[in-house]
Amino acid sequence: MEFVSAGPVESETGEALAVPVFGERVWGPGAELVADRLGPWLDEFLDGQGFSGKQGEIAAVPTAGEFGFGTVFLVGVGEEVDDESLRQAAGSLARRVTKMTDVATTLHQIDLDGAADAVVEGFLLGQYRFDAHKSSGEPSKTERLRFLAPGGDDASAAATRASVVAAAVALARDLINEPAISKPPEALAARAVEIGRTVGVAVDVLAPEEIEREKLGGLMGVAMGAHNPPRLVRFTYDPDDPKAFLALVGKGIVFDSGGLSLKPPAGMETMKTDMSGAAVVFGAIQAIAALGLPIKVLGITPLTENMPGGGALRPGDVIRPRNGKTVEVLNTDAEGRLVLADGLSLASEAEPDLIVDLATLTGACKVALGLKMGGLWSNDDDAACKVKAAARRAGERFWQMPLEAEYRSMLDSPIADMKNVGERWGGAITAALFLQEFVGDVPWVHLDIAGPARWPDAEHYQSKGGSGFGVRTIIELARELAEG
Ligand code: BES
Ligand code: ZN
Ligand code: ZN
Repeated sequence: MEFVSAGPVESETGEALAVPVFGERVWGPGAELVADRLGPWLDEFLDGQGFSGKQGEIAAVPTAGEFGFGTVFLVGVGEEVDDESLRQAAGSLARRVTKMTDVATTLHQIDLDGAADAVVEGFLLGQYRFDAHKSSGEPSKTERLRFLAPGGDDASAAATRASVVAAAVALARDLINEPAISKPPEALAARAVEIGRTVGVAVDVLAPEEIEREKLGGLMGVAMGAHNPPRLVRFTYDPDDPKAFLALVGKGIVFDSGGLSLKPPAGMETMKTDMSGAAVVFGAIQAIAALGLPIKVLGITPLTENMPGGGALRPGDVIRPRNGKTVEVLNTDAEGRLVLADGLSLASEAEPDLIVDLATLTGACKVALGLKMGGLWSNDDDAACKVKAAARRAGERFWQMPLEAEYRSMLDSPIADMKNVGERWGGAITAALFLQEFVGDVPWVHLDIAGPARWPDAEHYQSKGGSGFGVRTIIELARELAEG
């Protein structure tokens, strides 16, 4: 999509114009002029539509040739506008105007730092579609967004930055939405290599022999029941004079059947999305490198299916992840923590300043926090604060949960160093406590995105399905770390 600066509302013409309206129908930039031109009829029309300017409302107003634009979209932005509400408003607009090739707007003129950024990001994310498997041709998308002056001057810089971010989220969404049949570990690893080549990030891929040589017993164990062999992808982005060293670890279960602890059919329907953590790492690294942020980033994604084939792990089997601690696997559906164990060990051995892992780890986290926010656990207050602040700026919600040491005994095993499941209650916490065993003393933040990795229905800038939740938080975190 193209973003261009153009003249003021009164001197431009076109198919569609989108202007903001604050709560209680207070006209925003550009809307005043529209109201002036269309006269008292407009208020009556909006009364009929029940439009007051609340966040999320959009009214399409036909102008019957009285105005230079065929349709005016009045975009409700509510009373107090911030980055996220503007992003959401732009996303709602984007979903509403997909059939219009050229849209002019004054939304970026709202008095808010980074308004143009928020508009571009929300608009691009809102126009995202996953149509790779639709045979009926590509649905239309808006080709040009015109920023009407004043305020249009910084539009192109904002558009460049926000486009990089939106492309990273779209990449993650595409990978998540892809059916498992077309994304075996080998194919995802090949994609990682391609991404690395495009943005200048070194990528090395461990095949089964290397996975075994590196003693990645968690990943090997989970992969035992799968026909498609596993891979482990390692991205290294190492710019000159880095201000910090960040390690990212993403859960990459390309399909989670539960293994021999088989899930019921309904529980499996969305399990192609169980590699969302890995997809977020792919997207975030692409963006961090494309933006040229001066931090070193190591990205680790263990990739495998969790299947119940003849060679599969049996409940009761004992495996040995890389750090040597033995694990009695009582439930093969708690597989994410097994592959993350190896990913986290590799990350901590590299001695980064901070490890962040992202994983669709537990149904328990969905129960606790619902579908629109992730859980956050950390062994380091400063690290937790940094990630929470980044998430707030990105407009992604995480809620900090306790790493409750008292619950660690739930993971005690009579025959091994630990077992892979605790009791029913507090399942997201025992999962986090399990992961903690593999990070050593390195500051670490664990993000359980089981809920928000998939958006249940399209709304504002979210489409139904893979959301890429976490990509924007990690990019914001990287920006902050790059400040030194
Ligand atoms: N991938 C699932 C978690 C999940 C569930 C993600 C629903 C998204 C939506 C994970 O591997 C899993 O199955 N976890 C089990 C753990 C249990 C066996 C201790 C769970 O949450 O039920
Ligand atoms: Zn599982
Ligand atoms: Zn899983």
